[in-house]
Amino acid sequence: MSNDGTKARRRFLVVATTVVGAAGAAVAAVPFVGSWFPNAKAKAAGAPVKVNISKVEPGQQLIADWRGQPIFIVHRTPEMISNLGKLADQLADPESKASVQPPYVDPELRSIKPEILLIIGICTHLGCSPTFRPEVAPADLGKAWVGGYFCPCHGSHYDLAGRLYKSQPAPLNMPVPPHSYESNVLIVIGVDREKT
Ligand code: FES
Repeated sequence: MSNDGTKARRRFLVVATTVVGAAGAAVAAVPFVGSWFPNAKAKAAGAPVKVNISKVEPGQQLIADWRGQPIFIVHRTPEMISNLGKLADQLADPESKASVQPPYVDPELRSIKPEILLIIGICTHLGCSPTFRPEVAPADLGKAWVGGYFCPCHGSHYDLAGRLYKSQPAPLNMPVPPHSYESNVLIVIGVDREKT
């Protein structure tokens, strides 16, 4: 395991999530203190989950759980957002025309807000969970690397919008799940943004 990989994992935050209850009660998520996931019955029903992102600093990733899947939520820095605009010719599906995402997310940034990425953290090859590698030019990923995801199973590379690079084992970008904002810091995963 590389030092870079270890550092990247240390940046991960695991957040507690809460099921949207019948009464609509929302409990703020508490990063750093472990995880609380919907019970089996709620999962089977595909219950939405609410995630509080107020403690996620720029450059950090938080991992939530929705329907038993890891949801990567990244607070992208201005530099990260800027770099995404320079990668189109290196990507397999830069505008996500063949990939899964709701119609209300930007096709290139793949998000509602430029600074907040939210994707299903499952490689579209054979289902491993890619590793968050936000560093620029780490030794093992090369000088051209501007941050993204690396799948440890067969080596697929994605950018910080979950978009796949060309000539990888995986076929598509990582999917963006339906989601919406209840407030500036409270995301509801599993509920589409209302049409405006
Ligand atoms: S499962 Fe990710 S590259 Fe194969």
